[in-house]
Formats: sequence, C-alpha cells, structure tokens
Amino acid sequence: MKTHRVESREAGSQLAARLFVELSQANPTKPVGLATGSTMAGVYRELENLGFNPKCQVAFALDEYLGLPPVHENSYARELTTNFSERLGFQGQLLIPGQEPLSDPTSFEQFHLEQGPVSVQLLGLGTNGHIAFNEPGSSWDSTTRVVELHEATIKDNSRFFSDGSKMPTHATTQGIATVKRANALILLVFGQNKLEALQTALNNPGLHAPASALLDHPNLTLITDLDIG
Ligand code: GLP
Repeated sequence: MKTHRVESREAGSQLAARLFVELSQANPTKPVGLATGSTMAGVYRELENLGFNPKCQVAFALDEYLGLPPVHENSYARELTTNFSERLGFQGQLLIPGQEPLSDPTSFEQFHLEQGPVSVQLLGLGTNGHIAFNEPGSSWDSTTRVVELHEATIKDNSRFFSDGSKMPTHATTQGIATVKRANALILLVFGQNKLEALQTALNNPGLHAPASALLDHPNLTLITDLDIG
C-alpha cells in the first residue's frame, strides 16, 4: 500500500483526481470504477478542473440504494450522472448495481467480470468501516448482491435525505471480491470521524473491518488527511 498523508481534503481530492486520470489513461480501453458520497464530490470537481474527459466505454458504480429510481435526488445513479457523465462529458455507459440494464446482481457481476479488470477504482470508507455497502461481517469473497444496511450507515446517510425516515434500509453493492479485481484502488479517507474505522482496518484486520480486505491488493493507494502514525 502507498500512503499519502495530505494537509487537507482539497489537496487529497486533487491528488486522487490526478492519479485517477493517469491510471485510467494508461489503460483507456478498460472501464473505470466510480464511488459516491460526500468524499467523492471533491474528486469529481477536481476532475472537472483538470478538464478530464473520460474516453473509456464503460464506468461501473460501486453501489446503489434499493428501490430508488435513477431520477431520485438521492440515488447514486443521479449523483454519478450529474458528477461524472454530465460534468465531464462522459459518453460511455454508466452501469449501476441494482439499476437497469443490469439490475440483477448476477448480471452486473458477470458483465463486470467480462469487461474488466477496471483500470482504477475509487473508494471511500464508511464510519463503521464499510467499503461500498459491504458492511462489517461481509465475506471477503463476496460478489454483487443485495444487502441490509447497518444501523450506523442508516444514521450516517439519512442526513442526505430530506426525510431521513425514507432512507432505504437495503442496497445493491459490488462485493469485496468484485472491488478487488480492479488493477488499482484509490481509497480516500478524510475527517476525524473516519479515524477509528481506518485505524481498525490497518491495525486489526478481520471480517469486522471490510477495508482491511484491501490491504493485500498489489496496487492500493491510501490518501488521507488523518494522522495514522
Ligand atoms: C457511503 C457509500 C460508500 C462511501 C461511504 C463514505 O455510504 N456507500 O461507497 O464510500 O459510505 O461516504 P462519505 O464519503 O459520504 O463519508
């Protein structure tokens, strides 16, 4: 693992964007792997600032709330359509687990396998240690599937919903094995509220810490503003 300790979220987002461009352009025929959430918003802004126009044919999202139509204001489909397809002028296919045309998890997994490996996969970290929506306890062999969200995740993410009680309790997510097929992983972890999850993943690996499954990946880059010693 390569670790970059950065001074700020902004510096980390800039570094991640530069690395993403470099890794995706080195293998332009391969798909890219996208992530969502507040951490990633800065990365897409920096990609836009760099004038990056993705030339790949396919982009895969990590996860999606179950039951939200793609036009819903809180769907990850909508977030990525705005931040990646529209803002960067991406002309290829954006494929989201749980959404058409690959709404069936097995079909998503199969297509991901056929098109892959992904050149570069962006990743954030949940405060409870989840990767995509692979909650603590997820098998490291897991593939794309429907999962039940943990209470901590519902608490964290309901703030994004105008009516928090309407937040879905389930999601479709790439599995840990799916994510790890990527040629390169960029894990971004910003903010003190992620410190415990990150330290646990680094120092006390196991099923309780899904991010620790990434540690043996041959090309993992961690970008963080946290002091991890
Ligand atoms: C969300 C997403 C993850 C994301 C993580 C961190 O729930 N499912 O893919 O990386 O949790 O989110 P945030 O960046 O908003 O803290």
